[in-house]
Amino acid sequence: MKCSLALIPLTLAAWCYADFAPPIVNISLDEPPKERWAPLMKVIDVRYYRKIAPLIIDSIVPKWVHQAIKPVVEALEDYIPQHYAGEIQGLASLSGVDVTDIILLNFAYEITAFCTSIVAQDTNGRIYHGRNMDYPFVEILRNLTVDILFIRDGKVAYRGTSFAGYVGLWTGQSANNFTISGDERDVGFWWENVISAFILKSIPASWLMRETLEEAASYQDALERLSKVPIISTVYYIVGGVQPGEGAVVTRDRSGAADVWVLDPLHGQWFRVETNYDHWNPPPHGDDRRTPTIKALNATGQENINLDSLFKVLSASPTCNRITIYTTVMSAGTPEKYRTVMREKCNLE
Ligand SMILES: *[C@@H]1O[C@H](CO)[C@@H](O)[C@H](O)[C@H]1NC(C)=O
Ligand SMILES: *[C@@H]1O[C@H](CO)[C@@H](O)[C@H](O)[C@H]1NC(C)=O
Ligand SMILES: *[C@@H]1O[C@H](CO)[C@@H](O)[C@H](O)[C@H]1NC(C)=O
Ligand SMILES: *[C@@H]1O[C@H](CO)[C@@H](O)[C@H](O)[C@H]1NC(C)=O
Repeated sequence: MKCSLALIPLTLAAWCYADFAPPIVNISLDEPPKERWAPLMKVIDVRYYRKIAPLIIDSIVPKWVHQAIKPVVEALEDYIPQHYAGEIQGLASLSGVDVTDIILLNFAYEITAFCTSIVAQDTNGRIYHGRNMDYPFVEILRNLTVDILFIRDGKVAYRGTSFAGYVGLWTGQSANNFTISGDERDVGFWWENVISAFILKSIPASWLMRETLEEAASYQDALERLSKVPIISTVYYIVGGVQPGEGAVVTRDRSGAADVWVLDPLHGQWFRVETNYDHWNPPPHGDDRRTPTIKALNATGQENINLDSLFKVLSASPTCNRITIYTTVMSAGTPEKYRTVMREKCNLE
């Protein structure tokens, strides 16, 4: 549902304000890394961003640690792959936020996301992929969510949904190739990520997603990269393709895949659901979003699954909940149907 508040009567406003699309921004990969994020500054409130960035950091990292870690983070700049370092420096100078804060944000975002991702196949063999992004600071991050088209040679090379100031992607699509979403797999502490970045010279999980969207030529290629390239934290990668059977959940350790869980439609396994727990273990009682999501998919049925019914599954409680920021549904075979919706209704429960 999209509403232009200016055009609707006030009585409808309360009903309409709930779900809306984030702004779309074009980022040209043909521009130098330091300059390419300039268009972002036109769609976000930069003054607000300058104010809010340190607040997010303060709530994740104790103040004294923040001060103590500055030199470490500065040094980290040398370890960051060149074009990401350029993008981060550009984001800092364009927004007026301290570069160490932008680096810290890019690493801190790695740690506290709760999510639900689904990949499913209909009876005609078409693949659908959906995700909810759940995160603390929901009110702030809702303000900073953007849909990004990455442009090369005047065409969309790939697209994704992200938070302003963040160079990685947690949700993305390479048209007619594959779709990816990432869900947090909670093992360890954020400083282990920093150490891992230093010692193993590996990259954040969301940077590997973006790199894969940028470089992988096919679903198989994407699955391979997401399974093998070392990353600084553990994560679940959910991948959808274009051919029947092309859907999988990759459970990642830092060094490689712990498990690859592929769709098996011939044996009735026409969907895979991943929240934030290893699929071979039961979810904890306090946070079982998995069982209700599976029930909703069972009730929908393979013959009725499509982007709209998938969106409905992702809209039911507790799959959609008070910290759900956005829902994206996508299908690499019909790339123009990529859709992100900001969730306010789920917050009202
Ligand atoms: C979201 O952004 C608007 C406009 O900049 C601001 O007025 C509002 O306070 C922000 N919301 C939160 C929760 O920070
Ligand atoms: C973004 O790029 C797409 C694809 O080239 C184009 O259709 C669209 O008009 C562009 N939008 C803006 C705001 O420049
Ligand atoms: C798949 O992705 C690669 C790399 O981005 C791109 O060159 C290719 O055109 C894409 N394939 C299709 C069918 O769009
Ligand atoms: C979903 O359906 C499958 C196949 O009929 C069944 O094995 C499974 O127990 C159902 N799961 C839930 C949570 O209803």
